[in-house]
Amino acid sequence: MKVVLAYSGGLDTSVIIKWLKENYNCEVIAVTADLGQEEELDNLEEKALETGASKLYVENLQEEFVRDFIFPTLKAGAIYEKKYLLGTAIARPLIAKRMVEIAEEEGAEAIAHGCTGKGNDQVRFELAVKALNPRLKIIAPWREWNITSREEAIDYAKRHNIPVSATKEKPFSIDRNLWHMSYEGGALEDTSWEPDEDMFLLTNSPGSAPDEPLYLEIYFEKGIPLNINGKEYSPVELLRKLNKLAGLHGVGRVDLVENRLVGMKSRGIYETPGGTVLFLAHQELESITLDRDTMHFKEMVASQYALILYYGQWFAPLRRALDAFVERTQEKVTGTVRVKLFKGNCFVVGRKSEYSLYREDLATFEKGELYDQKDAGGFINCFGLPLMVQGLLERKSKGD
Ligand code: ARG
Repeated sequence: MKVVLAYSGGLDTSVIIKWLKENYNCEVIAVTADLGQEEELDNLEEKALETGASKLYVENLQEEFVRDFIFPTLKAGAIYEKKYLLGTAIARPLIAKRMVEIAEEEGAEAIAHGCTGKGNDQVRFELAVKALNPRLKIIAPWREWNITSREEAIDYAKRHNIPVSATKEKPFSIDRNLWHMSYEGGALEDTSWEPDEDMFLLTNSPGSAPDEPLYLEIYFEKGIPLNINGKEYSPVELLRKLNKLAGLHGVGRVDLVENRLVGMKSRGIYETPGGTVLFLAHQELESITLDRDTMHFKEMVASQYALILYYGQWFAPLRRALDAFVERTQEKVTGTVRVKLFKGNCFVVGRKSEYSLYREDLATFEKGELYDQKDAGGFINCFGLPLMVQGLLERKSKGD
């Protein structure tokens, strides 16, 4: 039997290789997805083979990640519980998709992952596998074995001569890709504890960010960011560039307690520097290019979209249907947004579009042609009629 394992080279997935071979008597094919986490991938193959894998696939999925997962999420305006830009949630379905393909090419029977039984990621991986190839078995060692802590995992590794560099102190659980970096667990489990500055890897502390603001002009076409300050970038390069600039200015930190799908609340810290800028700029461009009703309706779609992604239902029919709606709304979301990055903030300071619905002659306090203030009186009479009736009734009941 062959098993395809989502492999990072860390403690857990190293232990899993051995454990799978011992308990399932199988061949383990390791897969590492490169989503821009900028981890050392050079010696990974050696390590995987040494630990007992028969093969390691290192898959560079960065471009597909940005094009087919990040940009649709950006266009939808999806954000979970008002704060979380879903960086981990959107990566899982892509990793799972590539693993299913490899499992099929390799004739493997099962897919294994190192997610614990307490988090959202197990759900996301497994829903994607179920959707893409329901015949594949799923093995989740954390839900099966009796290793219950990091210390026990280290002991297991030692007993089995697995080379690991992990120490027994409680580190954060970290997940990184091109869109974001997340930190959970360890000292963060105390929700009143403020993390030390040295935890943050992608952003400067706002206090030590440059004293001069940085102005950026971001150009979008149909909701997709194409260039910064007139210079065109590929999707991956654009995100890298923005991460650097926004990170330098301390933009994109979030500290939240979120509701996990499996029930408990959990405290997480996120750094999404480039993503925060893109999210704000895109929303701003929509404010001039979408009509009022579409904009308001899209807010509902955005929150539903965020739930679907957070819950791991990327491959569900509803996500595709919502994408069709979002796609249609983006036809005129073309134009430029000017932002100012300063000490942890991203201020929007200007927006323009050839499709702008904003009309100075309408909005102006000066006299305009298109709008007659006298019309507003009649409008208010009709719009307020139900309230008037209600008011009359209430006064009557008070004996008026
Ligand atoms: N709580 C976030 C989410 O559910 C981040 C999860 C991070 N995952 C991890 N394995 N460290 O999307």
